[in-house]
Amino acid sequence: MKVLEDRIREEGLILSDTVLKVDSFLNHQVDTALALEIGREFARRFADKPITKVLTIEASGIQFAMAVGIALQVPFVYAKKKKAVTQSEQVYSASVHSFTRQETYQVTISKNYLGPEDKVLIVDDFLATGAALVGLVQIVSEAGAELAGVGCVIEKGFQEGRGLLEQMNVSVESLATISKMAPGEIYFQEPAKV
Ligand code: G4P
Ligand code: NA
Ligand code: NA
Repeated sequence: MKVLEDRIREEGLILSDTVLKVDSFLNHQVDTALALEIGREFARRFADKPITKVLTIEASGIQFAMAVGIALQVPFVYAKKKKAVTQSEQVYSASVHSFTRQETYQVTISKNYLGPEDKVLIVDDFLATGAALVGLVQIVSEAGAELAGVGCVIEKGFQEGRGLLEQMNVSVESLATISKMAPGEIYFQEPAKV
């Protein structure tokens, strides 16, 4: 998605060979018009699949799941990283190891909001190691729901996330795929079309 790649080139801060900071439009302040455009692009890419629900994980996936939900006219659900006091019902859960934070945490979704009748599109901001997304894929499977695919706004193509998801037969669509980066330089690859 050219508008997204341009924005990353203009405003992205490359902190190292592996970490890109995009707080000015994606991870802290959110460009709402761009988020809605991202939602429409995911909807277009998955147009051949009958999706009933969009799934993401708090926090930074929420605005994109909402944008796709608006475009597809379906609800979105976000997995929680902490068990809320109000969460007394039965939940699906998966454990996720965060490599950046070196900790393992549980992600949960209430069984009230995901089930065998659902056809699910998973959306997130970054595809990096894929740990969080693999957890969501496991939850979709535990729920007996059908997975339409995974959509990521920014993929770091040099990390292992895509490989892990494809091993699980998941189709992945990314709107901007970084093939290589280092402070002062960034290269994109054309997203692979299935
Ligand atoms: P992941 O690929 O499954 O997301 O797991 P990983 O442990 O690699 O990443 C941990 C967190 O860091 C994730 O956010 C992920 O989206 C984010 N992340 C990974 N690489 C980058 C990067 O280069 N730039 C930025 N800005 N973020 C990155 P999170 O902590 O799970 O959630 P959130 O609350 O930030 O959404
Ligand atoms: Na995220
Ligand atoms: Na994040």
